[in-house]
Amino acid sequence: MKIREFNSTDLAALLVIQDQNPTAGRWTKDDYTRLAGDAQGLILVAENEATAPPSVAGFAAYRSVEEEGELLNLVVAVEHQRQGVASALVREGAQRLIKRGARRIFLEVRESNQPALEFYSRAAFVQQGRRPDYYQDPCEDALILVKELTARG
Ligand SMILES: CC(C)(COP(=O)(O)OP(=O)(O)OC[C@H]1O[C@@H](n2cnc3c(N)ncnc32)[C@H](O)[C@@H]1OP(=O)(O)O)[C@@H](O)C(=O)NCCC(=O)NCCS
Repeated sequence: MKIREFNSTDLAALLVIQDQNPTAGRWTKDDYTRLAGDAQGLILVAENEATAPPSVAGFAAYRSVEEEGELLNLVVAVEHQRQGVASALVREGAQRLIKRGARRIFLEVRESNQPALEFYSRAAFVQQGRRPDYYQDPCEDALILVKELTARG
């Protein structure tokens, strides 16, 4: 699995993967395009090189402003889950954000998203707070998680 930066030819694949996963952030093509064109944005794609042509297995969307990084969306295609794809996307994202000066990465996650909470816990994110009723449809609290970055990510 190769981790590389997003380009516009990935858009359709990102939306397919997002639609497979109801707990993923619901973003439009414009949201991804805007973030990719923003100097503070970063979208990483995991590319499955075992297919011809290579296919997108997952992606992570970040923003960073000075010392604060944010993981905005993280989604892995259903058929590639539990293969270390998200771990690789977070490892590489952490390295790249460190180079931009980030010292920590924040994210928000639905309190009921147990698979994601298990993943983030394994990836050394810890709960830092809670935003009551942050999500709609259904209404739910967001947990705020943070991962302190070290030289190793
Ligand atoms: C959460 C998500 C990104 C994890 O992606 P992944 O590529 O499957 O994760 P990894 O394979 O790197 O998992 C690493 C470890 O995290 C934990 N983990 C990951 N998914 C898990 C699950 N469904 N249940 C329990 N633990 C899980 C395990 O400890 C796993 O290690 P193991 O497979 O050796 O047991 C993926 O399930 C996903 O896309 N979910 C839908 C979208 C979503 O909710 N994103 C988060 C929005 S905030």
